[in-house]
Amino acid sequence: MRFSQRTGWNTEESALARAHRLRTEAGLPIADLTASNPTRCGFDYPGDLLASLAQPQAFDYDPQPRGGLAARQAVCRYYADAGAAVGPEQVVLTTGTSEAYSYLFRLLCDPGSEIVIPHPGYPLFDFLAALDDVVILGAPLLYDHGWQIDPRGFRHALTPRTRALVLVHPNNPTGHFTKPWEAEELAQLCREFDLSLIVDEVFLDYGFEGRPWSFASGLEGVPVFVVSGLSKIAGLPQMKAAWLVATGPQAGAALDRLEVIADTFLSMNAPVQAALPAWLAGRGDIQAQIRRRVAGNLGELDRQLAQAPAVNRLMVEGGWYAVLRIPALQPDEQTVLALLEQGVWVHPGYFFGMPASGWLVVSLLGPMEEFGDGVTLLVNSLRTHQGGNSTGHQPQVIVE
Ligand SMILES: Cc1ncc(COP(=O)(O)O)c(C=O)c1O
Repeated sequence: MRFSQRTGWNTEESALARAHRLRTEAGLPIADLTASNPTRCGFDYPGDLLASLAQPQAFDYDPQPRGGLAARQAVCRYYADAGAAVGPEQVVLTTGTSEAYSYLFRLLCDPGSEIVIPHPGYPLFDFLAALDDVVILGAPLLYDHGWQIDPRGFRHALTPRTRALVLVHPNNPTGHFTKPWEAEELAQLCREFDLSLIVDEVFLDYGFEGRPWSFASGLEGVPVFVVSGLSKIAGLPQMKAAWLVATGPQAGAALDRLEVIADTFLSMNAPVQAALPAWLAGRGDIQAQIRRRVAGNLGELDRQLAQAPAVNRLMVEGGWYAVLRIPALQPDEQTVLALLEQGVWVHPGYFFGMPASGWLVVSLLGPMEEFGDGVTLLVNSLRTHQGGNSTGHQPQVIVE
């Protein structure tokens, strides 16, 4: 058999995955500071959640490429609550944001076209782009008393092959919300170079200072595509329901083409579409639980880190993660392996495009007791292995 070049991945088990598997198989305890699946973090979901799947319309197969009207109208109500006027004709339903990205890459890019994405960020982009023969170019985020977009980094990355900029708002895992001035700088770039803007808002409702503005309102003169979905907005990743919203110049033409892409797959199933309005309307309860959990775990993290001056928690404005700076004395892979031996599992920052040494990422979503125990193990272990040599300085400005 001859395989495609785009699937020529190294599929060997990584050293970290192997160590985690062996410890799990040995039945040894692991406090998981990577937990990010809300269905496994001990939240209370309504007992009748699945009843919404058993509605009469779920028996009917009425293939609508953009998705059923009632489900798209529910998405519009979600944006109306955020102050963004979106019509159902602007919405295309998908089985996940990954599928929405893939539709958008196929809409905007030819093989070899480029998209620019800030890093550190969501690691799945590399795979999503490669599968659609799109090339990813990185634009560094800066950290200086908080994360910031550097529009010069975006400008620098652009080539004649660039078709779109991608933003994650707020970003995963940095928790950075795009500020209006940053959005305007990027909008100017899009206008100048005839680019589209793709904005991932899956964490939009998890801002620490209330809910911020959505890009679904559009940016003048810029084709903006917003992607989001139930996995974070309603804490229901297992339902595989997401959407994209198209705004701006030529949105109608874009949607006509998107409709053909969606019609080719017709991937949404009827029961989930029928249930989507109820699940989306019920998001308040699970969101409140998640916000309480994240705030509680962040408070616990800071309380314990007060005893560990060598470890700095970077500023975070929202989302489910916290980024830690640790003394860069060895590759983070070794640190993570050593921490696992102590019984705590964290992500190295390089998973998200951070440098190979000095960065860890913890999820704030896990059950509070396990989280607190994990942080205790982390702090003790870092104090023993690394703390003595540290200056405990705040992180420097990052420009990579
Ligand atoms: C930034 C970002 N976008 C999208 C997703 C996944 O969304 P979905 O489950 O709808 O594909 C994740 C999951 O962690 C994410 O971090």
